[in-house]
Amino acid sequence: MTAVPPLSSDDQPQHVAIIMDGNGRWARSRGRPRTFGHREGVEALRRTVEAAGALNLAYLTVFGFSTENWSRPKDEVHTLMDLLRLYVQRDLDRLVREGVRIRVIGERSGLSADILRIIETAESRTAQNTHLNLTIAFNYGAQNEIARAARRVAEDVARGALRPDEVNEASLGARLDTAGLPAPDLIVRTSGELRLSNFMLWQAAYAELVFLDILWPDFDRAALEAAIDEFRRRERRYGGASRHAGS
Ligand code: IPE
Ligand code: IPE
Ligand code: MG
Repeated sequence: MTAVPPLSSDDQPQHVAIIMDGNGRWARSRGRPRTFGHREGVEALRRTVEAAGALNLAYLTVFGFSTENWSRPKDEVHTLMDLLRLYVQRDLDRLVREGVRIRVIGERSGLSADILRIIETAESRTAQNTHLNLTIAFNYGAQNEIARAARRVAEDVARGALRPDEVNEASLGARLDTAGLPAPDLIVRTSGELRLSNFMLWQAAYAELVFLDILWPDFDRAALEAAIDEFRRRERRYGGASRHAGS
């Protein structure tokens, strides 16, 4: 592989979030069960975390399991739970050494005790790391996240810690699972689907969206760089005037 210099210019996204989609179709096209696609998807995740580190991205967030994915067949749900165990346990020592900080966002209730323990261990063992912030959205749904944040706001108001007139974007944002993380600059979805599927609805307010036709198990550094190249061609306006519109 040719050496690509790390990204360095100002238009580098600070935070890239990825909806890792297409494992099932990748497996089906090979005549294999969907779970085979999920296993290959973990390899793609390993490659992507390594590439993100090499490209000096500060924040990488990946969507691994949605609150809606419980509706899948039992054995598939089981495999997806196993793969989180496998990924975090097998890679944790290396991620600790490489300076990766792990966070897991999403609904914790409903996850088994051993998964909760694995998540807590990964978060605490990497809490001091600063090279790459890897956030795994697991049992995550944006509407669920916003509803839980609203519940915290209500509880704080009820006990007098927050006044109703202090409820605003900042105080609600500070009660989301992503508190302390910058909003994603770039959200990438693989597999050609053109939707967010309940991913980071609040945080996506001004994200650039890039949809790739590649299926997740085929994702690699070149695909990540292609998405970032596309991001660099976009003009972000945040509701302001176009730079090209004249005055
Ligand atoms: C993404 O691949 C992995 C998860 C949603 C957990 P899919 O399993 O959704 O694969 P497709 O979209 O059916 O091909
Ligand atoms: C989104 O993909 C969830 C993850 C990538 C974890 P889905 O495959 O579940 O989304 P839909 O069903 O196509 O909208
Ligand atoms: Mg899918």
